[in-house]
Amino acid sequence: MRGISGKRVVITGAAGGIGRATAKRFLDEGARLLLCDVRPLPDTGLDRELHAESGAGARVRYLQADIATQAGVDALAAAMDEGVDVLINNAGITRDASFGKLSDEQWDQVVAVNLTAVFRLSQAAGLRMKANKRGVILNAASVVAHNGNFGQSNYVATKAGVIGLTKTLARELGRSGVRVNAVAPGFIETPMTAAVPATVLAGMAEKAPLARLGKPEEIAAAYCFLASDDASFITGAVLNVDGGLVV
Ligand SMILES: NC(=O)c1ccc[n+]([C@@H]2O[C@H](COP(=O)([O-])OP(=O)(O)OC[C@H]3O[C@@H](n4cnc5c(N)ncnc54)[C@H](O)[C@@H]3O)[C@@H](O)[C@H]2O)c1
Repeated sequence: MRGISGKRVVITGAAGGIGRATAKRFLDEGARLLLCDVRPLPDTGLDRELHAESGAGARVRYLQADIATQAGVDALAAAMDEGVDVLINNAGITRDASFGKLSDEQWDQVVAVNLTAVFRLSQAAGLRMKANKRGVILNAASVVAHNGNFGQSNYVATKAGVIGLTKTLARELGRSGVRVNAVAPGFIETPMTAAVPATVLAGMAEKAPLARLGKPEEIAAAYCFLASDDASFITGAVLNVDGGLVV
């Protein structure tokens, strides 16, 4: 993709299914990566995986940080002082329960990671990008933000919030040369969906015109396109990558 090589790309939730595939894709495209996850590096296997690629090690930095906390956000923001061209707010969690049983704790945890951290990190990166008069912020939404989903009122509210935040930041940062977009994945084969019963997942796959689950690499490709110069006139968009689930 045009304009990715040499760029400094920050990815949160980099040890998960989509984050890991996204890290690999950007590494293959020649980017320099600042990867963040709450998990300690040795537990993720990311060092072995990414350093295996020839000469890639020097282009990858890992920061263990909990972005649900202000301290975690501050640590990642400080690391961005070395430069940030692309921020991918990918980290996300689920704490599912039907609406009547949903606890404040489940609500707060999901809001902290999926929405508040996106706001705080976008602010940290956005101000740095504004000063440079260029940059790209990409946010993880979800197909459920359009449709709702049983048992996920907390999660859906954050993903709908991410879409609103994306569109507003696109308006506020556009004049400074900063593009802001969201990707709304359908149901993707990752550790997150591994917790969903197989019959439910099969039903979800069946509903999509392409009649299958997505692969993390297919979301990584969307992030890569939106970060590239090939998407230079795209901002404020929500790209559905869902096998046609929302048509
Ligand atoms: N898998 C899907 O079907 C699907 C569908 C729609 C949207 N999404 C979204 O895509 C993103 C990635 O999903 P995934 O399926 O790869 O999930 P995943 O569970 O495989 O990975 C998420 C990663 O985020 C990290 N993380 C969680 N809390 C964190 C915190 N406080 N600080 C730092 N890192 C933290 C986890 O350790 C994990 O490595 C999420 O935002 C998710 O909501 C996924």
